[in-house]
Amino acid sequence: MDKSLFDKDCRDCPRLSQFLDNVQARYPDYYCRPVPPFGDLDARFLVVGLAPGMHGANQTGRPFTGDHAGILLYQMLHRYGFSTQPESLAADDPLELLDCRITNAVKCLPPDNKPVGAEINTCNQYLGNELERLPKGGVVLALGGIAHRAIIKARKGRQADYKFAHEAVHDLGEFRLIDSYHCSRYNTNTGRLTEPMFANVFARVRSLLES
Ligand code: URA
Repeated sequence: MDKSLFDKDCRDCPRLSQFLDNVQARYPDYYCRPVPPFGDLDARFLVVGLAPGMHGANQTGRPFTGDHAGILLYQMLHRYGFSTQPESLAADDPLELLDCRITNAVKCLPPDNKPVGAEINTCNQYLGNELERLPKGGVVLALGGIAHRAIIKARKGRQADYKFAHEAVHDLGEFRLIDSYHCSRYNTNTGRLTEPMFANVFARVRSLLES
């Protein structure tokens, strides 16, 4: 993959690289590297998550694969015609994304699922380059406020002009950005994000792509 989009050997964030080394020692079978984006570069729909989950993407090497956070996401992608199957089980399963790509604002597993500002900033070049390559008229889905702000930063927008709100749609010129609460276990268990709420977001993505 083009190194301006993703570098599997990146160790630019000392805290994250050290943490990955520690996790690798504890879980020798886990992937434990920067997790590559999944899906074709010419896809018109880009989903942006926060960062790999410990026992999900960090284990399997595919975004949102192997943990709870991906269950609802892949179901919705399938329901709205963006994937060939409703479950992503492993990096080498036959699932294909259709006109869709999934990436993370931060490509490495952060301690406690919380990247610090400097790590989000260091990784932002990759997100910026991915957004540059998005076909005109594309739609970007931000899963949660951190992903939303990373996207605005990558486009050099003023955060105050683009406030995160569930189901808000922002015009970024080259593409539209739609926000959703993150599909984390915490948000789905507490009812902050329900299945109908998430389905509405995907229905909106479809209609934006068609408009
Ligand atoms: N897995 C990912 O790849 N990203 C997230 O934001 C959460 C889980």
